[in-house]
Parts: sequence; C-alpha cells; structure tokens
Amino acid sequence: MATKGIILAGGSGSRLYPMTSAFSKQLQPVYDKPLIYYPLSTLMLVGIRDILLISTPQDTPNFERLLGDGSRYGISLSYAVQDAPRGLADAFRVGKDFVGGSPVSLILGDNLFFGKLDFYRRALANNTGATVFGYPVTDAERYGVVEMGPDGKVLSIEEKPAKPKSNLAIPGLYVYNNDVMQIAADLQPSKRGELEITDVHQAYLKQGALNVELIGRGVAWLDTGTPESLLDAGVFVHAIEKRQGLKIGCLEEIALQQGFLSTDEFKTSIGMLPKSSYRTYCESLLSNGTIL
Ligand code: TTP
Repeated sequence: MATKGIILAGGSGSRLYPMTSAFSKQLQPVYDKPLIYYPLSTLMLVGIRDILLISTPQDTPNFERLLGDGSRYGISLSYAVQDAPRGLADAFRVGKDFVGGSPVSLILGDNLFFGKLDFYRRALANNTGATVFGYPVTDAERYGVVEMGPDGKVLSIEEKPAKPKSNLAIPGLYVYNNDVMQIAADLQPSKRGELEITDVHQAYLKQGALNVELIGRGVAWLDTGTPESLLDAGVFVHAIEKRQGLKIGCLEEIALQQGFLSTDEFKTSIGMLPKSSYRTYCESLLSNGTIL
C-alpha cells in the first residue's frame, strides 16, 4: 500500500512574533518561496502523492489558496483543521480518516532538507514499525535525541534532554506503519499538555519496533522556528540557487521530473503562473531540455 503523507503546518509560531501575528510560520518566505514549498517538495521527491496538510482554522484557507487541490503539481492535496495546537502526535487524530489503513509519513511544515534523500527512500522501503532519523548537531538539547548502541539498535530517545546522551537530533520527518493510528489514539497529554511525538516513539521502542536511519553530513537539515534560523535558511537557499541556477523546492519542476505531470500538463500548469522569475525558471526547463 502506498505511503500517505501528512504535513503539520499549524502551531502558534510564537517565536516568530510579530511576523506570525497576521499569517503563519509556514507561509513566511524562505528566499523566493513560502516555507511550505520545501517540506512539500521533500514528500514529492520520494514519490508521495497523496498528502494531507493540517493547519490552524485561520491559516488553512491561505494554504488552500496557495496550493489548491494539488492537481497543478500532479498530486492530491487535502486539508484538515487542527483547532488548537495539541501537539505533533495530534496529527494522527486529525488525520484519521485520511490515513485509513495506510502507512504514513509525517513531516513538520517548518523543516527543510537539501541533499540526496536516499536515507528517506530507504526508510520508506524498509520500514516495519516506525523509522526516525538521526542527524548530528551541536545543540542536541533543543531536540528529540536518539542514543544508539554499537549494533545500530536504539537504546533511548529523550525529548529536549538537559544532558543529551548523543549528538543525534531527530528531525521533524518520520515514517510509520499503520499502528501509529492506535498508538496516537491511546496517548495521554504530557505535563505541558501536548500529545508528544516522543511518546509515540517510546511506544514503538517498547515493542522493539523503532528504527533509526542516520542522515549523513552531506544532507542539510534546517529548521526555521526562530527569526535567525529563518534568515539562515533563506541565505542558504539563495546561495545554492545563485551558484547552480537551479531552484530548490520548485514544485512544478519536481512534478515534471517525477513524472507526476506530462510535458503538456506541465506547460498548462506554468501557463497559469504570473510573469515572474519563478515562471521564467519553469519555462527555461523546457527550452534547456535538461532536467537534473
Ligand atoms: P514548534 O516549532 O514546536 O511550535 P510552533 O510552530 O507553534 O512555534 P513556537 O514554538 O514558536 O510557538 O512546531 C513544529 C511544527 O509543528 C511547526 O510546523 C508547527 C507544527 N505544529 C502543529 O501544526 N500543531 C501543533 O500542535 C504543534 C505543537 C506544532
């Protein structure tokens, strides 16, 4: 059964105040595109085409205006409202009807990956229970942290530990079999009143069904929750795009490259775009004839 995708793009975005007082974090610009383009492109690049976007009551209509039903990218996009920020694991309660009996991958709407996504493809192909990823960082205490034994087995996972047992942070990208639906349904809110994704992973760990896939240093993982990290992400995207002349997270390009859109459908899709450097870039893909 094909893995379905959920993008969690609600939350309060309080660390980005005042930018988030009028519209949400995931609609803020990261150089030349709204932030949400990047996590959406990550799902599309590994072939996930049936995607639910979850956001707040105020912002869900904005996402619908931006991305529509996904047909312009050859995917199916649906929307669901999370009426309060009850935590990451609430995604599976809000997304219950969408997921049904399928395996599911969750990505947080403020996580940006750049580089070869083979680690993610491997996880989707091999996952039996849950797969989380491990990424080396210097400030692991800000994240969920995974500790691994020499045999690659998970020894522990901890949420924002004061003294991290490793330097491996867990990014906001996860792969699950359908058991996650029951695990999330049974979850109790934590002391801070949220349905914690770490508690979902603890449940899998108890069953011996939690896997970790390491992401090498050749992949950039950026999150964008603070003004500085949002600016860093924009500077990063700008530097790569300027050097290569290729865009990161151009949804139309990815749809064409993945075969989600035929060349004619791609032409129709970009024909609807306003005159902009974004449109010129999409048009150039046809005349260059090289899609990398
Ligand atoms: P966070 O960065 O943990 O929280 P936040 O976005 O509310 O920001 P702040 O801490 O500055 O107030 O959230 C990570 C991602 O998950 C982000 O894309 C928002 C999303 N999210 C939800 O959609 N629903 C939720 O209940 C929570 C907690 C987060």
